[in-house]
Amino acid sequence: MACGQLSRAEALACSGCRHACHVMLYSDTESQLFGKIPIRHIILMQMRFDGLLGFPGGLVNPSEETLEAGLSRELLEELGVALPISIEDHVDSCHAPASSPSSPSRLITHFYVKKMEEEQIKEVERAAASTAPDHGQEVLGMVRVPLYTRKGGGGLAPFLSHSFIGNARSQLVDSLLRFNLVAPEELHRALTHSLKIHS
Ligand code: GTP
Ligand code: MN
Ligand code: MN
Ligand code: MN
Ligand code: MN
Ligand code: MN
Repeated sequence: MACGQLSRAEALACSGCRHACHVMLYSDTESQLFGKIPIRHIILMQMRFDGLLGFPGGLVNPSEETLEAGLSRELLEELGVALPISIEDHVDSCHAPASSPSSPSRLITHFYVKKMEEEQIKEVERAAASTAPDHGQEVLGMVRVPLYTRKGGGGLAPFLSHSFIGNARSQLVDSLLRFNLVAPEELHRALTHSLKIHS
């Protein structure tokens, strides 16, 4: 993992820390792009109000709610559905990247991954665009992550070359490996290519 690992318990013991919880919701899919390119998995991210890509979720106050209940509350605001999140969905917790080396971050980000059925994911997409209170405000829209690589390099590499909030990009990349969503060699090629796109 790219972040300095903290256990859930260590993270909660930090006095004076703020906490944010975000989740990667995904499913398998048999569908194909242009009727021939396997899409393999639907992974949901969002275009945030600040123009950065990130995962759904947000700030949680552990003195008022559990991390998982707070994350569910954020999902209701941002996706329009009350998805239950459990401790088993927790992947890791770490300090957010520091804005400067002299001021270490007091924000701890907790990351969760939840696998769903394709129909449930599509229902989340419909709700996020229609009934979610934050739609058009804090959340400009949900986006799926393209996992394939097209001739000429289109797909995952240009997606990874966009700007992400905090360490959302490493949360995505680490999860693609950890949950076997992209072959390691293909991911490696996409990462290398993504760094060359704007340079
Ligand atoms: P408000 O309701 O406006 O307070 O926003 P929110 O509660 O939805 O908070 P937000 O989702 O913006 O997350 C809070 C902080 O966590 C952000 O300011 C970022 O620093 C960080 N953050 C946001 N999204 C992600 C993400 O996907 N991954 C990681 N690691 N950090 C994130
Ligand atoms: Mn078309
Ligand atoms: Mn929010
Ligand atoms: Mn949020
Ligand atoms: Mn919030
Ligand atoms: Mn809010």
